[in-house]
Amino acid sequence: MQTDPALKDFADQVREQIARTADTRALEALRVQLFGRRGKLTEWLKQLGKLPPQARRERGETLNHLRDELTAALQTRATALAQAELERRLAAERLDVTLPGRGESTGSLHPVSRTIRRIERLFGAMGFAAVAGPEIEDDWHNFEALNIPAWHPARAMQDTFYVLDGRRLLRTHTSPVQVRTMQRQAPPIRIICPGRVYRRDFDRTHSPMFHQVEGLYVAEDVSLADLKYDLQRFLSLFFEREVEAMFRPSYFPFVEPGADVHIRWGERWLEVLGCGVVHPNVLQAVGIDPQRYSGYAFGMGVERLAMLRYGVDDLRRFFDNDLRFLEQFV
Ligand code: DAH
Repeated sequence: MQTDPALKDFADQVREQIARTADTRALEALRVQLFGRRGKLTEWLKQLGKLPPQARRERGETLNHLRDELTAALQTRATALAQAELERRLAAERLDVTLPGRGESTGSLHPVSRTIRRIERLFGAMGFAAVAGPEIEDDWHNFEALNIPAWHPARAMQDTFYVLDGRRLLRTHTSPVQVRTMQRQAPPIRIICPGRVYRRDFDRTHSPMFHQVEGLYVAEDVSLADLKYDLQRFLSLFFEREVEAMFRPSYFPFVEPGADVHIRWGERWLEVLGCGVVHPNVLQAVGIDPQRYSGYAFGMGVERLAMLRYGVDDLRRFFDNDLRFLEQFV
């Protein structure tokens, strides 16, 4: 076979170029230069037809041979480059999945949840069942049935969020759950109702959403003495010491008499809950005979109790969701 020296030079150059190509993209560009629609070899193969038969055969053979050789060389180089690229990537993304994880953490319950669970456990041991009720209430359950008529000034105290339809509201206290329970169940009733409540209030000791636990005991012959005894007991268990509690007369429309309970905290007396003997109007509203049954009720702020127990001075901390704060309660 007679070889055209120009063709031989060209072939040598291309072989060298293939060997020098550093990545698969450059190699692909080179392949297009040779075999693409306007590629050099494509061009030459097309021109074969213009040669006389003898020259055509010889040159055709040479070109076919060269084409096969270069195609194989490109393929080999492509495989080698792809392999090298894969190895580089694997080395860069190396990950030892057998190593133990770092910064393992198990999380913890929110201090408000912990406090609610604690309250539920203590009252549970005293025979109280925990029940829940809706957070979107109607006027009747939140106010009317609790002896708070429309004109009553206590409504202003509550600073209510109303739902846009004007008929419903976000409950301002958990007391409506005692109403719902008494509608459903005949005495004896012994329940606590923990849950979220809402008021238009926001400062160091108030948040527009906070938690209360309502308590209710209705049976024959329930008295103020029962109330004092049970709450005293609860407070001492909750704070894990003999708590000094003081019952000061106070007013809530749904109880008579009503009281605020204050506990001694160092030099000071702090108010921790409201309570009283269930008002006969409330029993009547839910169809319980006030001649036969009596009851006591109480309501406490969960954040308040949690602040005292954990020594937190700003109620808003509970809702900042700052992990550095929350992680302390484990
Ligand atoms: N509902 C009252 C409030 O949100 C708390 C309360 C006071 C509940 C006295 C009671 C009670 O059941 O007897 O401020």
